[in-house]
Amino acid sequence: MHYSEFFDHLWRDYVEIAPGVEKIHQAVAALERRPIVNDHVAFRTFDLAPVNLASLEKHLLPLGYRRLAPYNFKEKKLSAYGYVHEEEGAPRVFLSELRVSELSSFAQQTIAGLVSQVDSARVERPDVFWAGPLWKPVEYEVYEKLAAESEYAGWVAALGFHANHFTISVNALESMETLEELLDFVEGLGFSLNTSGGRVKGTPAVLLEQGSTLASMRPIEFAGGRRETIPTCYYEFARRYTDPATGKLYDGFVAASADKIFESTDRRKG
Ligand code: NI
Repeated sequence: MHYSEFFDHLWRDYVEIAPGVEKIHQAVAALERRPIVNDHVAFRTFDLAPVNLASLEKHLLPLGYRRLAPYNFKEKKLSAYGYVHEEEGAPRVFLSELRVSELSSFAQQTIAGLVSQVDSARVERPDVFWAGPLWKPVEYEVYEKLAAESEYAGWVAALGFHANHFTISVNALESMETLEELLDFVEGLGFSLNTSGGRVKGTPAVLLEQGSTLASMRPIEFAGGRRETIPTCYYEFARRYTDPATGKLYDGFVAASADKIFESTDRRKG
């Protein structure tokens, strides 16, 4: 599979679960009158076989991706890798996994119960990245309890496998120069932004500035056919700066910023 086909499939799945992102995409594309460049796509999973990071990563490598750098999020109990493609213009990939053994025994047992339902043959195909849940719907109360402990755990338990977000590259825009301009534009379309850690996370000094919407709220089916509205996916925006060490645009991620970006899928308080 060519990487562009992989991302086309992912995008179709993503706009289905977070319809608002298409409105943003179309509005920016109308200004630009040319395709929008995708800075990166991010995925979430549990660190249990057969859905752990290593099991998913094996589909990225044949698409032309290679590992760039590892990341550790101590408080959120996540391990991650950033991946880059040899071809200029291909989106970067950010793949993270939740370290289940660091969670409560309730969460460990619940997640082990979900992962035990996964047909490992289903993980052998690259379309696992947009497969949704590979287990029976969880009880809504179980989702709430999981999410109270780890929003990330609740998200993966309820939604399974999807692109968590796509990211508009500010660098590639002609109609706007700064991330602030793009964030103002998105807010003007009626979207709420993730303000955890400020609207703009990161600085030119760390070579990456990021912002994002809050996740779309969508009705999802839980056990027993119960439907509840929960946060799904969000749209991110990134501006990269030239790395003085290489003379090229910085390709990595900034852990302190990503830590706050993860909170775009937190359930709304109050
Ligand atoms: Ni991101």
